[in-house]
Amino acid sequence: MTLDRAITDYRAKTPRSRQLFEEALRVMPGGNSRTTTFFDPYPFYITRGDGARVWDADGVERLDFNGNYTSLILGHANPQVVKAIQDAAASGMSFPGPSEPEVRLAEILTRRIPTMDVIRFANSGTEATMHAVRVARAFTGRAKIAKFEGAYHGTHDWVLVSVAPDPATAGSRKRPKSVAWSSGVPPMVVKHVVTLPWNDAEACERILEKQKEDIAALIIDPLLANAGLIPPREGFLEKLRDVTQRHGILLIFDEVISFRVGRGGAQERFGIRPDLTTLGKIIGGGLPVGAFGGRADVMNFYDPREGRSRINHGGTFNANPLTMAGGIATMEQLTPEAYARLDALGDRLREGVRRLLRRKGYAGQVTGVGSLFWLHHTRKKLSDYRSARPADASAPTRTFLGLVNDGVLLTQRGLGACSLAMSDADVDRFVETLGRVLA
Ligand SMILES: Cc1ncc(COP(=O)(O)O)c(C=O)c1O
Repeated sequence: MTLDRAITDYRAKTPRSRQLFEEALRVMPGGNSRTTTFFDPYPFYITRGDGARVWDADGVERLDFNGNYTSLILGHANPQVVKAIQDAAASGMSFPGPSEPEVRLAEILTRRIPTMDVIRFANSGTEATMHAVRVARAFTGRAKIAKFEGAYHGTHDWVLVSVAPDPATAGSRKRPKSVAWSSGVPPMVVKHVVTLPWNDAEACERILEKQKEDIAALIIDPLLANAGLIPPREGFLEKLRDVTQRHGILLIFDEVISFRVGRGGAQERFGIRPDLTTLGKIIGGGLPVGAFGGRADVMNFYDPREGRSRINHGGTFNANPLTMAGGIATMEQLTPEAYARLDALGDRLREGVRRLLRRKGYAGQVTGVGSLFWLHHTRKKLSDYRSARPADASAPTRTFLGLVNDGVLLTQRGLGACSLAMSDADVDRFVETLGRVLA
């Protein structure tokens, strides 16, 4: 199906969303508050979610493999989570002081992640990564940070670098150039961000060693979850752990997405011990959340006692009781059996898609870990951000819109997630629908 045809079908199905979008355009630039969720010609407006499904303003039902960009591990409106949040809300929405649920969620998360001696809460993954890189600078007394080409860590200046650069202007594969991903990022910040090539341990070591005295931290999404879910090669993460340790560079695992792959996140799965970890998405039960933590000697920069507060961490809604209640009710349901079920759903989906692509002779592949998957439109061997760029740039959008028109929601670039609200039949429906869309 052509993109034009998909857009025509989409418009025909979504008249009420179009009307809402036109109203939105009068009061918001581009009609929205979240760049990620915008797509041409306009996004559909969601009115309700229940389990594995969402309904739009025109009453169209869709099976949701987006899950608010991987946040909703239990699906929409999980009854225990809804009840916990309702009970918390009935006792007050937010307070000018701490509340017990904050302590309980902190206990749950630090138990699950042994490298997190201590933790602090924020309101988004963006805040979490911002604080993690700041405390790394405070602790090491160094100014630069290192990150991977293609990796997304939120929307503060320090990580809005080389997120989706055009390789033509981003230097060589082995020595990527740091490129601002947004206007407004100061050139001074870009100069202080060192960009690394994913899965090339020797190149990473060379680059890091050259500036070792200046680099405070290396921040890693261990799954490269926003650039194709490209698995780290055997020994790659170990090598990074070794190099950073040798040179006093703090290793930050950004597990905002990857925490969902197991009880202790990707660090448990890969057996790596980072110095700091950032979290978000699933840990708030669907409400706004972020968290960061790790080694006590590093995190102590946030200890406000006896005038030793070396880093200020305000936040009117940090650790608000609703988010904490939603987070606790979510974590309580993430048992070993739940993770096994999520893995099984992910395996079934990936296997089904692989069979489909083979049968159709379609030039694509699927990657992923546990409940996460990514549909690629290339047969190239995937090793890093550059290799995962689709040859036909419109293929992901065409597929996304085709699925939307056929009642299935993915993310626009191809990332998807199974939730515990899904059945095997839901996963099979994804594969069948994809078959029709790719036809
Ligand atoms: C790996 C990673 N880090 C950080 C963030 C930022 O989180 P938030 O959108 O809550 O600011 C995201 C969001 O998708 C993410 O995927």
